[in-house]
Amino acid sequence: MSARRILLGVTGGVAAYKAAEFTRLLVKAGHTVEVVMTEAATRFVTPVTFQALSGNAVYADLWDPRPHNAMAHIELSRRADVFIIAPATANTLYKLAHGVSDDLISTLAAARTCPLVVAPAMNRQMWANPANQRNVAQLRADGVQVFGPASGEQACGEVGEGRMLEPEQLLERLEALFVPQRLAGRKVLMTAGPTFEPIDAVRGITNISSGKMGYALARACRNAGAEVTLVSGPTGLPCPEGVQRLDVGTAREMYDAVLRHAGSADIFIGVAAVADYRVRNRAEHKLKKGDSVPVIELEENPDILATVASLPAAPFCVGFAAESRNLLEYADAKRRRKKVPLLVANLVQKAMGRDTNEVLLLDDAGSHALPEMDKQALAARLVEELAARLPPA
Ligand code: CTP
Repeated sequence: MSARRILLGVTGGVAAYKAAEFTRLLVKAGHTVEVVMTEAATRFVTPVTFQALSGNAVYADLWDPRPHNAMAHIELSRRADVFIIAPATANTLYKLAHGVSDDLISTLAAARTCPLVVAPAMNRQMWANPANQRNVAQLRADGVQVFGPASGEQACGEVGEGRMLEPEQLLERLEALFVPQRLAGRKVLMTAGPTFEPIDAVRGITNISSGKMGYALARACRNAGAEVTLVSGPTGLPCPEGVQRLDVGTAREMYDAVLRHAGSADIFIGVAAVADYRVRNRAEHKLKKGDSVPVIELEENPDILATVASLPAAPFCVGFAAESRNLLEYADAKRRRKKVPLLVANLVQKAMGRDTNEVLLLDDAGSHALPEMDKQALAARLVEELAARLPPA
């Protein structure tokens, strides 16, 4: 995502300490951050912390004379691409919902021209309070984006809904706001990660796959407005926000999960490194070392991508091809064999276990090379390429 000017409003809740980490993440991602605080917020974290992290002056006072025309309440939000208030207390939500402008943050919100986002943080009972719920509903009706809150353990020791989203989740949601909604209204079904074919109770056959490319693509599709179902083999990756993940182990479990959802999907993307074979003589218990070396018999797994592509009302199918040599020749043959309109091919040496990838796109018109890039940037580019080839909804 290109760099944005972000105005961050910090109000007085314990979660203010997470706003410091959020500031750091925003700056690290290349954005310009200006921080405004309520007086209460400065009791939790000092302005100096935010000044050091953002590299910019911090404002907490409506009467601050520093902006050149002494109009801090207008100027700060006029130069921002988005105003995000995180954490947003129940009191601030009330003020925003009722147009109260009695401190810098509420005045900036009222005078802004940019989109407004709030990330509520409060005790679960305060969150559930009917008055607060009315305020949140009013804010949504006014076009304000509400990120979270999440459920979990709270600073007060209670457990429930009201925790602020984690800084990483806020960053992800915020960046998604600026992505063109090329896949709005589309349902995307995907596979990612490796599969695991058991040999016995503790051993198995698998492919080397971190799942990073598939997860990056799931995130990019969601950012572009799609409803995403991700059928994932075992990876250590967290599920991207707003993506429905179905965890599977073997290729046959992946096949079953995909075919259960393929009928309602508009797009199917097979990114998983599916094991081509499974063990026919799988042992129920751990094989013990004996006199002879065990013989493993293999049988072929179903081809998930080829099966989905040959369904009568097949979704638009995108395949991936991981090759270690003869990239164009093997990938082209694979695309024709599996009958997919778009295939993304890469050399395993350039992708596996790395954060970057360099791919070749193959379609009916031929092959197109994309430059090497970060997997998340590549995922966003692939969404553009995919959207450009989709039949009209
Ligand atoms: N694929 C699949 N089901 C399988 C095997 C592969 O859906 N049983 C999908 C992968 O997710 C990928 C594409 O098919 O989108 C190509 O996978 P790849 O492993 O490169 O090709 P294979 O079909 O396994 O062919 P080969 O092993 O000969 O390269």
